[in-house]
Amino acid sequence: MNIAHYAQTRYTTKAFDPGFKLSQEQVGQIETLLRHSPSSTNSQPWHFFIAGSEEGKARVAKAAAGGYAFNEAKIRHASHVVVFCARAAMDDGYLQTLLAQEQRDGRFANDEARAGQHKGRSHFVNMHRFELRDAQHWMEKQVYLAVGTLLLGAATLEIDACPIEGFDARVLGEELGLREQGLVASVIVALGKRSEQDFNARLPKSRLPAETVITRL
Ligand SMILES: Cc1cc2nc3c(=O)[nH]c(=O)nc-3n(C[C@H](O)[C@H](O)[C@H](O)COP(=O)(O)O)c2cc1C
Repeated sequence: MNIAHYAQTRYTTKAFDPGFKLSQEQVGQIETLLRHSPSSTNSQPWHFFIAGSEEGKARVAKAAAGGYAFNEAKIRHASHVVVFCARAAMDDGYLQTLLAQEQRDGRFANDEARAGQHKGRSHFVNMHRFELRDAQHWMEKQVYLAVGTLLLGAATLEIDACPIEGFDARVLGEELGLREQGLVASVIVALGKRSEQDFNARLPKSRLPAETVITRL
C-alpha cells in the first residue's frame, strides 16, 4: 500500500450516494480504527456513536438544522455517521478504569510497572486539570487524533468521508443525552460513497507548498 497515494486522493465528500451501504465488515474495520487511535497517556477520553439506520442518522441530522443546514444532506445520505464525543471530565475513577484495562491487556510485568504507569498518567491529567486548567481542551485534542485516524484509514478502505464541525452541539447533546453520560460532542464524520453529483470530487486538492509548512533541519 502506498499511504501517500491515499493522503493525496482522499477528499471531503460533499454529496453521498443515498443508496450505498457499508458492509458489516467495513463497519467493523471503522470501529477498529476508532478504538485503536493513539491518545496522550493512553487516556482514550472519547466515546463514538455510530448511526447506520435511517432513524439514527435522522437523530444526528437534527443538529444540522438552521445555520448548519448545509451539512444536513451529508448526514442523511451517508451510509454511516460517527459522532465523536469527548469526556466532560477525567476523574480518578476513570483513571482506575484505564489502569485495570491495561492490566487485563498484559501491560504490566509487576506492581511497580503498574504504579509507574498510574503515576505518570496522573501527573499529566492533574497538570491539565489543576495547573493548566485545560482538561476539556486537552481531551478534545485526543478526540481529533481519532478523527484523523478515521479519515486516512477510511480512504485506505476506499470509503468516502466528510468531517463535520458545522453542527449544533447543544442540540446533539440533548438528542443523545450526552450530559447525562458525561460527554460532549466534538465532531461528526459522515461515511459512504460519493454521488455522481459531488462537485468536490472533480476539484483538485489544494494545499500550501511543502516549503511553506515544512522546515527541514
Ligand atoms: C475538523 C474538520 C471539520 C470540518 N467541517 C466541515 C463541515 O462542517 N462541512 C464540510 O462540508 N466540510 C468540513 N470540513 C472539510 C474541510 O473543509 C476539508 O477537510 C478541507 O477543505 C480540506 O479538503 P479535503 O478534506 O478535501 O482534503 C471539515 C474538516 C475538518 C478536518
